[in-house]
Amino acid sequence: MIEIVKPALQHLPSYKAALESGWSPDNVRLLEATREQLAAIEEDPVAFLASLDDPQAKGPPIALPDGTTVARLPGFRRWIWDGEAAGSIGFRWQTGTSALPSHVLGHIGYSVVPWKRGRGYATEALRLMLEEARAVGLDYVEVTAKPGNPASQKVITANGGRLVERFFEDAAYGGAESLRFRIEL
Ligand SMILES: CC(C)(COP(=O)(O)OP(=O)(O)OC[C@H]1O[C@@H](n2cnc3c(N)ncnc32)[C@H](O)[C@@H]1OP(=O)(O)O)[C@@H](O)C(=O)NCCC(=O)NCCS
Repeated sequence: MIEIVKPALQHLPSYKAALESGWSPDNVRLLEATREQLAAIEEDPVAFLASLDDPQAKGPPIALPDGTTVARLPGFRRWIWDGEAAGSIGFRWQTGTSALPSHVLGHIGYSVVPWKRGRGYATEALRLMLEEARAVGLDYVEVTAKPGNPASQKVITANGGRLVERFFEDAAYGGAESLRFRIEL
């Protein structure tokens, strides 16, 4: 099956190949993020890997899609690994509370490379990341999914997620309608 691994040099050639094929680990910034990551890997692979693991929120502010910048939350990213790069899953949280600022679209986000979808990888990756969320001390996590993304909704409900509300994403993301799920930990 899969594991979720802390990104390390040994994983990098396979991960880079996935990016080069046009896959994006970022569901909001899509190919812009793919290009940025390829450039960062080229420039300094060790610094790139270090930037993915930031539980103290030491990294620079986050740029939202409309160009606004907001403070970075503590977070880290793991790569979904089946012997090769299979995807990416990220987790971010606010210290001392399970709540999130309204501009943060969920605690956990994930993407599986297109050629490895439909094998249960995202469902298992989310299950594994929930253990990390428990370890940080959260009572629950929120995960959001678009109404038009039934695969992601299924990943969430298979992990005990229940629909909390339909909402409109902050204007900084373009204001589209989305669904907010909560998973009690
Ligand atoms: C969403 C995504 C992560 C799912 O990854 P995955 O590894 O294929 O997911 P899984 O195999 O664990 O589960 C997908 C489930 O959705 C189901 N599914 C897939 N396409 C579907 C569709 N069009 N309609 C209904 N269900 C669908 C699958 O049958 C499976 O359910 P099952 O386990 O009951 O058979 C993947 O499609 C992806 O990376 N999409 C692009 C990025 C994205 O949307 N990320 C989530 C943002 S909220």
